[in-house]
Amino acid sequence: MADTVEMLTANEEQTRDLGERLGRRLQRGDVLLLSGDLGTGKTCLTQGIGRGLDCKGNVNSPSYVLMNEYAGRETLYHADLYRIEDVEELDDLGLWDYAERGVLVIEWPERGPELLPGDGVVVELRYGDVERQRRLRFMPRGERGKAIVGALRPA
Ligand SMILES: Nc1ncnc2c1ncn2[C@@H]1O[C@H](COP(=O)(O)OP(=O)(O)O)[C@@H](O)[C@H]1O
Ligand SMILES: [Mg+2]
Repeated sequence: MADTVEMLTANEEQTRDLGERLGRRLQRGDVLLLSGDLGTGKTCLTQGIGRGLDCKGNVNSPSYVLMNEYAGRETLYHADLYRIEDVEELDDLGLWDYAERGVLVIEWPERGPELLPGDGVVVELRYGDVERQRRLRFMPRGERGKAIVGALRPA
């Protein structure tokens, strides 16, 4: 798809730095869906996003609570749908409403609605060919998605 940006990282710190770069550009209303196997770096990328949003405290895996929130320049809402068992739980969570109050990052979107209701970015994370390498594909949705992903492109 046009405008997709693919990037390789060689280690955890590079993934976090990439997230930080992304986080600095994010605004209220932005939604990112992070899709990929366990251990591909979804939480690591989100930690970087938290830094980029000047969030206090370390972002960690919200697996047991479905959603964590971190105050920052904008509030980061970090959801992990891995443990979602039925869609009713998701309805209870009122997922998309969070985007109106801050930046919404969702791990395991394939457990839930998957499709972005509006603009945003779908990120696919995969293991690379060598140890610690990761492949991240940033796929923009809508004009806002393009602006976010466009800013990641090396100048
Ligand atoms: N290039 C890399 N990017 C991100 N994480 C990496 C990388 N190389 C190794 N790792 C390790 O992979 C794991 C990623 O974990 P995590 O971010 O929790 O993944 P996920 O949320 O996708 O399950 C961490 O243990 C991290 O140290
Ligand atoms: Mg995770």
